[in-house]
Order: sequence, then structure tokens, then C-alpha cells
Amino acid sequence: MSDVNVQVNYDDLIPNNVDLASDRRLKRALEEWHPGYIDWWKSMGPEGFQEAQVYLRTAVGVDPAGWAKFGYVKMPDYRWGILLAPQEEGRKINFGRHKGEPAWQEVPGEYRSLLRRLLVVQGDTEPASVEQQRHLGSTAPSLYDLRNLFQVNVEEGRHLWAMVYLLQKYFGRDGREEAEAMLRRHSGDADKPRLLGAFNEATPDWLSFFMFTYFTDRDGKMQLASLAESGFDPLSRTCRFMLTEEAHHMFVGESGVGRVIQRTCEAMKEAGIDDPNNVEAVRQLGVIDLPTIQKKINFHFAVTLDLFGAEVSTNAANAYNAGLKGRYQETKLDDDHQLDGSTYPVLKYVDGEFKTVDEPALNAINARLRDDYVKDAEGGVKRWNKIIAKTGIEFEVQLPHPAFSRRIGEFAELSVTPDGSVVSADAWQAERDQWLPARADLEHINSLMQPVQQPGQYASWIAEPKVGIDNQPGDFEYVQLAS
Ligand SMILES: [Fe+2]
Ligand SMILES: [Fe+2]
Repeated sequence: MSDVNVQVNYDDLIPNNVDLASDRRLKRALEEWHPGYIDWWKSMGPEGFQEAQVYLRTAVGVDPAGWAKFGYVKMPDYRWGILLAPQEEGRKINFGRHKGEPAWQEVPGEYRSLLRRLLVVQGDTEPASVEQQRHLGSTAPSLYDLRNLFQVNVEEGRHLWAMVYLLQKYFGRDGREEAEAMLRRHSGDADKPRLLGAFNEATPDWLSFFMFTYFTDRDGKMQLASLAESGFDPLSRTCRFMLTEEAHHMFVGESGVGRVIQRTCEAMKEAGIDDPNNVEAVRQLGVIDLPTIQKKINFHFAVTLDLFGAEVSTNAANAYNAGLKGRYQETKLDDDHQLDGSTYPVLKYVDGEFKTVDEPALNAINARLRDDYVKDAEGGVKRWNKIIAKTGIEFEVQLPHPAFSRRIGEFAELSVTPDGSVVSADAWQAERDQWLPARADLEHINSLMQPVQQPGQYASWIAEPKVGIDNQPGDFEYVQLAS
């Protein structure tokens, strides 16, 4: 690993550890893309806070011990950099038909379009979430939360840069066109929507934001982890560093939902309300009742599972065989990493019941990643239940059945309840509002979305965090609002 790889060049417009200065064609392409990106950020990014000074962390290197620095910055002045994890000497392709060959440093010609598609789909999600979250600033429950929102937003912006870098460096004119198109598609746009469904859903309130960062950013983690296994080394290195930032996004989600739950339970205790299903009484307290939180979990979990695509997929098999996208923690798995003749149990609905059916493991890559995701997502749910249990309230939140409310894959045509019963479409519709947020639930959540902008103060419906960002004290002014 050369020194060029660890030092970020802040003399350049685009901070980087990829020695951008020595590649004039690429540098020019990125510098030409940059103004369009800033225009996009100002018109589609966080609304109303572009002049505020935000206490943000900026990635300044890839050393695990000190890769970020904290300081006040106006978001449009954030240094969106291009940072790759260090190159591993002698790294090999670890799976698929090229297993054992040296990792590719250039795009393998035969997989050019497959690889380009993977980059475009991943890249498209990054600015999409910024767009989805752009109105949230005006209703933030605290300056701490406002800052966390903006931290997630600028890092999703950096993730877009990460994918655009790969497209522009390795895909010539095609890559430049794809980079432009990333700024032209918009979340929820009727003519040019984002590529994946969940990224066209609105994120209208802060509970949705926390659910999104818990559930949907976690899909991002799984996808990045699979791409970090890639035999295309620049993609692997890019994703490995993106995962470092992604961990914070899921922290924002898990702790955010946890703080909402905690505040609800505390308020119930203070008011002497023991029955979580006494929704009206709980709402009078200015908090979000637990059944509504469960409905939000149901919604975000189901929408996110759709992101994993069809459970049985030849596209996923091709990407795996080609050595471009591996399984979650591929190199830690104990098998041949080629999956010749091996099978994987895929959950299906057969003859009136859910059961697992052995499918060729190669075709079941998506199903497996989704299963890994569900396991990963269960951790936070357990911790949320501990918060509830500690207060003495009797209620447990849970993940719904994976077939609940799905639009893609094996279960798209079924009407399934959260506990996994298959019912008629009419029966499902009749009960829908018990399982998914109903209009009255959303109206209640909305009524609570009033901004709190005094340092150290929090809205009625959310508990204070246990510790500050960067160990700052409780009354720290995380965002200095422009006057
Ligand atoms: Fe991201
Ligand atoms: Fe993220």
C-alpha cells in the first residue's frame, strides 16, 4: 500500500485517496459532474438548512483509528470525497467460476454490462434517500436529531460520489451518462422515478425516518457487504469503506426507534396507563402508542424485503458466478464458494402452507441474503423489547412474517397476515388498518411533528439520547441555525 492511498488530497476540489491528480481525464469528468451535483444537492437535498452550520463528521482518511474529523460546516461546503479501503496485496477472487484468480483491477470485458448495472442500481439508492428525507429538517425533534439527519444525508451524497467515481473511471462515456442520469431521476417522480420501489416511498415524518434508517439502510448494508466481496477490486475497496459510514445510519435508526419506544413507555408509566392498547389515552400524552409503532415496523420491513428481489433469481446467480457480487460474509462461509450441486432452503407457499423448498444454491442467492438480513434485523427488535420490558409495560414488538404485504417475489400474489396466515384479498383489506398505519395513525404522528430547536431540548414523543455525538455535552448546539 503506497502513501498516496492513505493521504487525502484536500488541495483538490474533490478530496480523494485515489491519486486523482494523476488521472487528468477522470479528474476532468468528476469536476464537470461536480456543479450538477451541487445544484442537485441545493434543489433536492435538505430543504431550508443549506446556510446552517452543522456539526458533521467528514471522512478524511481510511485508517480505522482516525478516519473522520468533526467540525461545523455548511452542508453545500461539505467535502464529499472519494475514499477506498486500502488495497490488499495479492487479493484473489474468492467465489464463482473465477475463484482463485487474481482480483480484477480493471473491468473484465465479458462482465462489463452486468457490473455497470450493479453500480447503477446501488448508486441510485444513495441520492434517492436524500430526496426522500429532504423535508424532515423543519420538524426535527431536537438539534441532535437534526444533525444526525444531515450526517446521514451528506454521507449518502458521498456514497453517490463513490459509485460515480467507479462509473466514470471504468466505464468511459457510458459511465459519464449513467452519472448524469443519477441526478436526473428523482424519488417519487412520475416520469423519472428512482429504480427501486422502496426509494420512491415518502419519508414524511421522523418515525418513518428512524424506521427507514433501521430497516432500509440495513438492506444497504447487506448489499454493500455482498459487493465488498466482489472480485472487481475497486468495487470491493469502495464498499468496504462505505460500510464504515453505514454503521452510523443504522445506529441512528435503532437508537431513534428505541428512544421513541422509551418515551412512550415512560409517559404511560407516569400517567398510570398500563394497557398499551388504550391508544386514545396514550396519544393524549403526546407520544406515539406502541401499536402504531408496530404498524410502522410492519410497513418498513415489508417494503424493504421487496428490495432483495425475486427469491429465486438467475440474475443473482449470474452475478455470483461471474465473481461480481458474493454472499453476505462470503469468505467466512465454509463451503466451496462455487455452489456446484449444492442447495439452499427457500421459503415458499406450496399446497396451502409455507415451507422451505431446496433450490439450487446459486439461484437462491437473493433468498439467502434476505434471510441473513432478517437475522440481522432481529437484533435491534430484541433490544427494543428490552426497553419496553424494563419499564414494566407488557408489549412486544416483532417482525412480521416475511410474506406479509409483499409486492415482489414468491409472495407477491398472496394476502398474508403479519403472523403468517393466508387469507382472502377481501379479508386482508378489511383488516389492513390493524396491521399497517391507518390514516388516523399517520395523522397522530404528524400532529407531533413540531420542531424543537433549543439546544438540549427534545420533543414530547422522544427520549434524550444516552450520549452525545463525538461525546459532546447534553446542551451542545449541534446545528447553528442561520439567522
Ligand atoms: Fe449509502
Ligand atoms: Fe445509509
